Parts: sequence; structure tokens; C-alpha cells
Amino acid sequence: MTAATATTADTYRPALHYAARNTWLNDPNGLIHHEGVFHLYYQNNPMDNVWGNMSWGHATSTDLLTWTEHPVAIACDEEEDIFSGSVVFDRDNTSGFGTDSAPPLVAVYTSAYKPASELHGVQAQSLAYSLDGGYTWTKHSGNPVLNRGSAEFRDPKVFRYDADAGSYWVMVAVEATEFQVVLYKSHDLKNWELLSAFGPANATGGVWECPDLFPLPVDGNPENLKWVLTVNLNPGGPNSGSAGQYFVGDFDGTTFTSSTTVTEGLQDPDRLGEYQWLDWGRDYYAAVSFSDAPDDRRLMIAWMNNWEYANQIPTSPWRSPMSLVREVSLASMDRSWCLVQQAAGDLSPSPDATPSFGLAAVEISEGHHVLDGAAGSVQRIDLAFTPGTAHEFGLVVRGDRTQGTRIGIRPTEGLIIVDRRESGQIDFHESFASLDTAPIRTSGGSYELTVYVDHCSVEVFAQGGQVTLTELIFPAAASTEVSLYAIGGTATLNSLSITQYA
Ligand code: FRU
Repeated sequence: MTAATATTADTYRPALHYAARNTWLNDPNGLIHHEGVFHLYYQNNPMDNVWGNMSWGHATSTDLLTWTEHPVAIACDEEEDIFSGSVVFDRDNTSGFGTDSAPPLVAVYTSAYKPASELHGVQAQSLAYSLDGGYTWTKHSGNPVLNRGSAEFRDPKVFRYDADAGSYWVMVAVEATEFQVVLYKSHDLKNWELLSAFGPANATGGVWECPDLFPLPVDGNPENLKWVLTVNLNPGGPNSGSAGQYFVGDFDGTTFTSSTTVTEGLQDPDRLGEYQWLDWGRDYYAAVSFSDAPDDRRLMIAWMNNWEYANQIPTSPWRSPMSLVREVSLASMDRSWCLVQQAAGDLSPSPDATPSFGLAAVEISEGHHVLDGAAGSVQRIDLAFTPGTAHEFGLVVRGDRTQGTRIGIRPTEGLIIVDRRESGQIDFHESFASLDTAPIRTSGGSYELTVYVDHCSVEVFAQGGQVTLTELIFPAAASTEVSLYAIGGTATLNSLSITQYA
């Protein structure tokens, strides 16, 4: 196959998100901040815009918003596809791939062996190294470095663990169909020793993929660290298909102990809503965090798509965007912990600039009210509501007189919803049209939302980022209206400001 070429106007190409120029992408891989540059590698089909020929594509950014695409970093060959994994800066040259004065970047990836290989059918962990800051890569001649003979062992995320007796590398990976995260230890990235396994626990409605494990200070207190284990699963998300869950607990250098396990073993389908989700929307998958982000920030990015319909979304010549990069932190809440997420690139309305559109407190009467002067297709919308008598209220984005994406609150049900059943093109796959929900509680009687709208997506951060919903949408280019609505009564809009981009 040759690279797909554009057949229709590229209406959906995002302005604030990364998408490859003219090829397919899925999971973010090898995220690292190195020498002042954020590197985003990703699952890429260099020859087409559907899944296949899995290789690592590559893009870089310095502001987390604008990305430059580079040549394929690690390519598949006849014997192996290059599945997901991570990159570490081996600053002490423990691997010996570099020198003490010029230490290497080391990629740890899954070799998915093909029929031409004597390991056909096996998934095992392999290495590649870069001596030029991440632009060109050489596969290690001793690959694979960790082979359990398993067909479902993948997605290694490696980090440096500082123990009292010295530091070492830790790998978290999955035995996908066992719903297990397996942890390994190494001193040189080449020899690995099993430490422990975690799971099954909480959501197990689909294979476990792309895990991550990192410490975060609770409420910003560096004396009080908890460890967060994130596990993506497909399908089995709270609103169908692919999604990511997380556990909060402790890691002692050997074992992760969860303090937030609701159900041990295989999941209880009735308790899906009690598990903790990185995002409740349909399109936030394979989320992982950056290594070595400045100022100890924990930055995550996800593939903004869902395996249910990923290969069918109506974009061309590329297919699939990444999410915005998010900064995650940990807040204590009701004797538990909640991951709090904010967009990490600088999308804040500048304090000196007047927002493009603003409204002070106003009552929203029953019905649907288009906001004159608020229209746009790439926007940040900040707003706060106090419930009244309406059983649902909220806003509609990317709308016209007949269609739009509804983002609403149902206060008596304790739900936030995103309804994309009339969001634009929906008929490319039967499961795409959906009304998706997440539990939400008031903060001091009100609801605060920040919504990022782009040419093919909405990302909703509710209650300061305690609840997020990320969804693809495919509206007509002319559908740009923003409106407020209330159903069954009234609600109060406390404030609204819209920043327009592009
Ligand atoms: C997740 C995933 C990974 C795998 C990669 C293959 O979306 O299935 O488990 O490494 O995609 O492209």
C-alpha cells in the first residue's frame, strides 16, 4: 500500500491536537522530555491510514500544543511489529549503548513476532537506542531482552526507582488476557528479574494494556507520596469500548499495593461506575505519562479514539488524533484520592486579555438559547452553573439550528453527560452515536466546566478536573454555534468566558 492521499477536504484536522500528516496512529509511546524537547513517539502505520505495519512514528514539541512530525523512528520489519513501549534517558549509561560522556536514550518496546520469525506468535520486550537525542534509533542485537513465551505480554513502561540501597530500573508491562500488570527490575535494561504481579482487580471487561506507575504528592505535599497505577483496558470502559482506569496505593520497590481496589478478581459488571477512570468519555485510550518532565510535573497524553470504531472514523488522509497533554495531580477526597487533570499546554486565557466572549450571571430559561457572538470551531469555554428547577442544563457546542454536541448536567441524577447522537457525521459505525455519562457532585452547590473544542473533538474537564470526558465528534465545518439550554425548568449560569483559537 502507498500512503493514503487526501480525497476530501481535511475538515477535521485538529488545530490544538497532534495528528500525523497522512498516516494512521494509535497509542502514544516513548514519551520523554529530553534536552528541552518533548518527544512523542506513537504506534504508526507509515504506509496507510488504518492499523498495520506497526512502527514508532515520531513528533516533537516545546510547548505541548504545536508538534513537528519527524521520520519514522523505529520501523517494523519482516520479523517483528514494533508495539507500544517507553523511552528512558540512561544517564549513567547502565546499558552500555552509549558512553559515560554521551549517554543514550533507550527505547523498551514490544516485539510482536511475525511468521518470518522463529518466535512467531510471541510478544516479548526488546530494546533500541538513540545516540542523537531521539531522532535515529538502532535495534539492540540481543533482542528480545525479556521473553516469557507469552502471546500477550506487552507495553513496557520503564522508570528509575530510587531505593535506599541504590537505584534500579523498574518495568511495568501487562499479561493482557490475564488482567495482570507484571513488574520487573533491572540494573542494565538488558537483564530483567520478576518482582511481582498486580491484578485482576476492578475493571476487567477487556484486555489490560499500556500500564504506567508513578508517584504523586497528595494535595501537593511532597512528604505524603502515593503511587498511581494506571491500566488501560479494551473493551470494558464505563461508556463502552476502550478506556483507562487507575488505582492509588503504595509501591515499595517490589510490590504495588492498591488502596482503592473495589473488587478483586474478575469485575462485577454492576460496579463499573465505582471504579476510578482516567476519563469517562469514549475517546481517551492508551494514556501514559512522560518521563523526565520538567519540575516533576506528571504529564499524560492519550490516543483520542476507541478500538470499537477506530479504523472507520471519517478523517483523511490521516486517522486518529492524540488528546491534549494533561497535567495530573492527586487530591485527597473522602478518605480516598482523586486524580485531578488539567490541560498542560498554555491554553489559559491571558489575565490581561479580554476573553473573546463573556457573560456574567444570568438565568437560563427553559429551552435552547444560541449565544450571539460566541460561535467558533476551536475554543476553550469556561463556565459555571448553579442548578435551579431544570432536570438538565448545559451547553451545546459545534451546533447549527438542527445539530450539535450537548454537554449537560443532570443534578438530581448526579450525572454529567456528553451527547453526540446529533453531533454531525455519526453513521460510519453503529456504536459511535452515544450519550455518555459520568458521576459528578456539586462543589459548593455549583458545577464548573472547562471545555476544549476542536475540529473533531470535545474534552470536558469538570469540577476543576476531577471528572473528565473526551469524545470525538465530526460536525460540519459550518456548525459553530454555542448555545445554553435548560430542560424542565431553569438553571443559573454564574459565569461564561470563551477563548477562540484558530
Ligand atoms: C493498545 C495496543 C497495545 C499494543 C498496540 C499495538 O491500543 O493494543 O496493547 O502494544 O496497541 O498497536
